[in-house]
Amino acid sequence: MNAETTPRRVRKAVLPVAGLGTRVLPATKSIPKEMLPVFDRPAIQYVVDEALAAGIEHFIFVTGRNKSAIEDYFDRAYELEDTLRQKNKAELLAELDRFTPPPGATSFVRQQAPLGLGHAVWCARDVVGDEPFAVLLPDMLTMAAPSCMQQMMAHYAQVGGNVIAVEPTDAPWSYGVIDPASRNGRLLKMRGMVEKPAKGTEPSNLFITGRYILQPEIFALLESQGKGAGGEIQLTDSMVRLMQSQDFHAVEYDGRSYDCGDKIGYLNAVAAFALANKDFGQAAAATLRAALENR
Ligand code: G1P
Repeated sequence: MNAETTPRRVRKAVLPVAGLGTRVLPATKSIPKEMLPVFDRPAIQYVVDEALAAGIEHFIFVTGRNKSAIEDYFDRAYELEDTLRQKNKAELLAELDRFTPPPGATSFVRQQAPLGLGHAVWCARDVVGDEPFAVLLPDMLTMAAPSCMQQMMAHYAQVGGNVIAVEPTDAPWSYGVIDPASRNGRLLKMRGMVEKPAKGTEPSNLFITGRYILQPEIFALLESQGKGAGGEIQLTDSMVRLMQSQDFHAVEYDGRSYDCGDKIGYLNAVAAFALANKDFGQAAAATLRAALENR
């Protein structure tokens, strides 16, 4: 990046929420997996809060069939609000209000076939337009202060270009993994990235945590992206191509992620976010301890 240019502000975030949630069935048979409660709120709320903390103003949900509960959740619930008002439940009303985005701050586009993450992001191209944007994968909840996306934005303000979050893992073959070239504090330059590397061939143990700041040129690459790992159009493969022409950094952010994509990961997230809740954390710890002792 030219040191004298300020990177363009990131205003929009893409949240791919079309996945079927097959690894958490039957819970997800008629409820989108993003709506499963992680302690006291749907998983997707944590992800939206993370992005809001980072200054995101517009949320583009890439949805699919049977996902209308997400759209309803981010709308006003008139009957509920009216009932709470009549019952003088001011605190609850204020809380609901905090969770409702302002008018016009959400868009919903459909991914009509499950062709992969790269295809899902590409489906948002017209709504994103010609500006840098964030991608947050709602399967992955991050616990960090400042939020993971906030930390990424701080680095983006310095280096511009494209920025992804990474974190060490014991199971790099399950994720996208980076091939680091050099490091400056938490900021890494990369030689490449691999989606779901074969066991034993992982270039590092640093996996892509599902948080991205991308330049709009990624869309043209996604358009021509062939199938990759798992027979799907992979965002990682287009990022590798974008790296050839643009600055690309990884940030090993200060915090940790919770993969809600399977049952035990989901349980771990529920426990961790209950324990971290400022009002209920202590009671949650006592309850979890008692559950272990009484089993
Ligand atoms: C996707 C990405 C992968 C990333 C992961 C994080 O994979 O393709 O690079 O590490 O999310 O959750 P998926 O979980 O969709 O298989």
